[in-house]
Amino acid sequence: MKTGEFTGAPFAGGFALPPDPAMSDGNTYVSPNLTPDPETGHIYNWDEQTFINRFKAGRVYKGSAMPWGAFSRINDLELKAIYRYLKSLEPVKNKIPKIVYGPGEALPES
Ligand code: HEM
Repeated sequence: MKTGEFTGAPFAGGFALPPDPAMSDGNTYVSPNLTPDPETGHIYNWDEQTFINRFKAGRVYKGSAMPWGAFSRINDLELKAIYRYLKSLEPVKNKIPKIVYGPGEALPES
């Protein structure tokens, strides 16, 4: 957060985002692996329309740092471009066991 250095393979997830006091529900959220790894890639089984629909649907977790509100206004053409870009990445095997950690719960190492 302080240096801008990658903490792991780019786009492979695993970064634990601390609760944001402004919108916190007390939970910590871990970013998913967006690379197209067949076993551990979070969106490996999503087709392009599923990806677009997910962005239109917006926020699921109140305290997630991902700016779902703003991203719900990304247009379909741009979302297709992002989807195709993610699919073009080298697959990285990085299992993210879970996304939501409650207050005080031990976090995964990142
Ligand atoms: C264009 C940029 C981004 C793309 C394409 C993207 C994509 C995604 C996708 C596909 C998911 C899985 C959603 C689901 O399973 O329902 C996700 C979740 C998540 N993203 Fe992003 N993301 C982006 C930017 C960000 C940013 C800027 C942050 C934080 C600063 C972030 C943090 C998270 C977190 C913590 C989650 C898990 C909790 C949740 O589902 O809200 N993402 N992202």
